[in-house]
Amino acid sequence: MGLGSRKSIALLQAEASGEGEERTLRRALGALNLTTLGIGAIIGAGIFVLTGTAAAQHAGPGVVYSFILAGIGCLFAGLCYAEFAAMIPIAGSAYTYGYATLGEFIAWIIGWDLILEYLFGAATVAVGWSGYFTAFMNEIGLHIPYQYAQAPLRVVGTHHLVQSTLCISPTTNQIVTDTLATCAPGLTAVQGVINVPAIVLTLLMTVLLVVGIKESANFNNIIVIVKVAIVLLVIAFGFAYVNKANWHPFIPANTGHFGDFGWSGVARAAGVVFFSYIGFDAVSTAAQEAKNPQRDMPIGILASLAICTVLYILMSLVMTGLANYKTLDVPHPVFVAIAAAGPALAWMRPIVNIGAIAGLASVVLVMLMGQPRIFFSMARDGLLPPVFGKVHPKFQTPYVTTILTGVVAAVIAGYFPIGLLGELVSIGTLLAFVIVCAGVIVLRYRQPNLERPFRTPLVPLVPILGIISCGALMGSLPSDTWIRLIVWMVLGLLIYFLYGKSHSKLGRAEKVGA
Ligand code: ALA
Repeated sequence: MGLGSRKSIALLQAEASGEGEERTLRRALGALNLTTLGIGAIIGAGIFVLTGTAAAQHAGPGVVYSFILAGIGCLFAGLCYAEFAAMIPIAGSAYTYGYATLGEFIAWIIGWDLILEYLFGAATVAVGWSGYFTAFMNEIGLHIPYQYAQAPLRVVGTHHLVQSTLCISPTTNQIVTDTLATCAPGLTAVQGVINVPAIVLTLLMTVLLVVGIKESANFNNIIVIVKVAIVLLVIAFGFAYVNKANWHPFIPANTGHFGDFGWSGVARAAGVVFFSYIGFDAVSTAAQEAKNPQRDMPIGILASLAICTVLYILMSLVMTGLANYKTLDVPHPVFVAIAAAGPALAWMRPIVNIGAIAGLASVVLVMLMGQPRIFFSMARDGLLPPVFGKVHPKFQTPYVTTILTGVVAAVIAGYFPIGLLGELVSIGTLLAFVIVCAGVIVLRYRQPNLERPFRTPLVPLVPILGIISCGALMGSLPSDTWIRLIVWMVLGLLIYFLYGKSHSKLGRAEKVGA
């Protein structure tokens, strides 16, 4: 009883099949829609922004290997998610799996941890969106002052937070490079103050969600087609203009510090670009809306992951081939890579910008939508106050949590740099993956005879490899990120022991039963 209380699988399956009172979602999504949903959540700031940061600061063109390493870790985790999502097709994702297998305390840890993935994730992608939006406005002659489109601090090298200084070309008003604390002669230095476009986007998306925009599968499909088309365009046309000299050396020599180039840099970059794969797990939050979750959940999760892995490897190869990796440490590296090809690809610049602007905005929307849903599940279980489960009488949306999520995400997006946020989101999500992999092993051992429509192959080998590879990706992230994770989790533990433990519905029911 208490910390180890588990929700029974039978109860969860009953909730999912509509016997419980909260079956409100319509089962409308097939395998194809689930796959596009996954791709819609996956392709975002990771490939469009962090590829540049990871190449410039850690791995050079070797970032291609980083994408392969991160993709392998995700494959193991994806196989474990697929088993759970097919067996317990309910919206709470990893939080619910944790409640079923490892008990309430671990479920709380995952739920609290998922705030890093969704709320902080939305803020991270909003910062990425701001980079492309500002560049696009600049292209069409509307200059947003860079100091108001940039956080005051940025991460440099392995883990130093320094004042954010951008070096701007006075003639084109373009960011030339922002890795240096002092700008080269002829360039203007601009200090970041606050990221206004990121704040505005986050608040706009929040308003949309409160008044109940229906993110229909069709709308998502269109955005996904646009995003994938742009990635394919960059790959297809970019390859023709690659300057092979940019690939030499493919892995720049280590500078003497772990994570600064060399193979340790490739490993650290893998921890950074892991962010770009986040989202395949979001497919599992749509489990209650799937027509045939037993069959289609595994397809949606694994197909979206496989497609994006291939696209990412090719895209990072092209980007580091078009431009020298040192020039990619900018808020809009795909644009810079295309621009490096010269006039031949000038026609693609607006297309890349518009695609990134639409594509990243949709990721922010999906993440801001996912967070209240998890809060909602936790409030329903009594782990958060009932106000977190409040639904607007007219709009029928969880407006309290949506507004809370949006406002907090907006503040974070306005004041924190993408490097710091991306790493925090990655380490938090990796922790959830490790726990889900462990959950598969535990449930196979505790309830071997449960019906499993999809079985993770080679258990316990695959989950163990998942734990090791996701653990290694966590290990490759800098100590500052670990400290932030620990502080966040300690805060969560305090809330659990001061509130959740005594208010938990399952815990209370057990007490009454006893
Ligand atoms: N994978 C998502 C992105 O890169 C979160 O934006």
